[in-house]
Amino acid sequence: MRVLAVSSGKGGVGKTSLVVNLALALSEEGEKVVVFDADLGLANVDVMLGISPPLDIRYVLKGEKSLKEILYKTEYNFEIIPASSGSLELTQLNLSQKLLLKAQLEEVLKKQDFVIFDISAGISENVLFFNFLAEERIVIVTPEPTSLADAYALIKVAFKKYKIRDFYLLVNMVKEDKEGKKIYQQLLYVLGKFVPEVKLSYLGALPFDECVGKAIKLQIPFLKLCPLASVSQKLREVALKLRKVSPKGDNQLEVFLEKWMSV
Ligand SMILES: Nc1ncnc2c1ncn2[C@@H]1O[C@H](COP(=O)(O)OP(=O)(O)O)[C@@H](O)[C@H]1O
Ligand SMILES: [Mg+2]
Repeated sequence: MRVLAVSSGKGGVGKTSLVVNLALALSEEGEKVVVFDADLGLANVDVMLGISPPLDIRYVLKGEKSLKEILYKTEYNFEIIPASSGSLELTQLNLSQKLLLKAQLEEVLKKQDFVIFDISAGISENVLFFNFLAEERIVIVTPEPTSLADAYALIKVAFKKYKIRDFYLLVNMVKEDKEGKKIYQQLLYVLGKFVPEVKLSYLGALPFDECVGKAIKLQIPFLKLCPLASVSQKLREVALKLRKVSPKGDNQLEVFLEKWMSV
């Protein structure tokens, strides 16, 4: 089991689009994937897929349902743990609530190959919490300078607060491939200067493509709407690259649960 967090400093850079389509690409390769929708913002995973899961994490926190019962199976084979606004409460649980959820998390997550967190923009405690819980973290930027500055702030704060030392960078909405590499070099340079402890790896670049917006309007993944578009091909390459990276040991579930109890 691998735990991936997808975040960005700035909002509207494509986190939810990436999460949904990455989950689909990975599950098409036979991986069992669950998406944890922890975005407190508007464009949530369920909206993007045109679904409305009847239950969410708040029922679990109230003790009315188990985590397994609130899991939502999408038509695309991956599952969702709806949390959105309830995810804020997860950062403020007492010990007995944490213990109760720990057992349920273990039961649900041990069957998965990938858990992907879709996180809010910004550098709030909620954002840092989910970045800390994940073993692998994708930060998304776009070619806009503000997005780069905000990603830098996120990485710096995550290092200062939780000693998080490694991130993948994905550049979204590029005009051409080499724009992505250039942005990676820029961020690498600033980090090297001010937060040299952090390691940033390049995951790739996705082109700007109108299909992404169209797919959101139609509430289906862009991989389904435009399977042959270059954005879809690049997304599949990213999924492949992630599958190839050897996971950080086979005890990621244990590490996750330990972290869960420690915060
Ligand atoms: N590669 C892309 N090409 C064109 N538009 C994109 C791309 N990625 C995201 N978008 C657009 O950006 C907006 C925000 O995407 P979304 O996935 O909701 O971002 P976030 O979750 O970071 O807020 C959407 O309108 C979407 O259509
Ligand atoms: Mg989003």
